[in-house]
Amino acid sequence: MLSSSEFDTVYLEGVGGELFPAVTRRGLMLVPTQVHDTSDGVVGYAYATAHRDRAAYRWSVDAATYISERAHRQGIARALYTRLFEILVLQGYRSIYAGITLPNPASLELHKAMGFREVGIYHDVGYKLGKWHNTIWLERSLAEHVVEPSEPTALPVLLETEQAKAAISSILLAGEH
Ligand SMILES: CC(C)(COP(=O)(O)OP(=O)(O)OC[C@H]1O[C@@H](n2cnc3c(N)ncnc32)[C@H](O)[C@@H]1OP(=O)(O)O)[C@@H](O)C(=O)NCCC(=O)NCCS
Repeated sequence: MLSSSEFDTVYLEGVGGELFPAVTRRGLMLVPTQVHDTSDGVVGYAYATAHRDRAAYRWSVDAATYISERAHRQGIARALYTRLFEILVLQGYRSIYAGITLPNPASLELHKAMGFREVGIYHDVGYKLGKWHNTIWLERSLAEHVVEPSEPTALPVLLETEQAKAAISSILLAGEH
């Protein structure tokens, strides 16, 4: 079970519906509407982190999502990713990557359905649960790779402006979830 206490959440007023999408410092999460009445109601989350530390990579992020088993195959990962990517574009990011520990057909299919394509496999790159694991990497463009791109803006900084807050609210309000 996921706990909303894991998140440093920025709630946006006026966003509702069956599921409550919220922007957190790390990305997006979906919780039931009664967000303030429950501490264990998070359905899932999607977030993006820096792809690498070096300056030249600052327009590139890695994506990840996790949806609670009780809510699989309802289009929630797709909805979260769709909104997350739109917010990442507002922030000024250009490329997005996903590393998936193999095997994970559900995640591979989700990322392909979201427009990612395979780059290659890192062999024995991770160790957990007594085993070395392979990771497949996928990539996707978020926005045009222009010369002299504007600097990406961190989410908390972006949320300081009313214009960006309104744009993010309207992204979160779009769609079914
Ligand atoms: C992978 C995961 C995030 C998918 O979440 P989800 O909310 O069930 O996915 P969605 O319902 O939005 O599915 C969107 C598309 O992804 C693909 N997909 C998702 N789950 C799939 C599965 N089990 N098998 C095949 N394709 C799948 C399909 O193309 C699907 O579209 P469709 O339902 O119209 O066919 C979820 O299974 C999960 O959290 N798994 C454990 C954690 C994990 O592996 N996270 C990814 C690490 S980056």
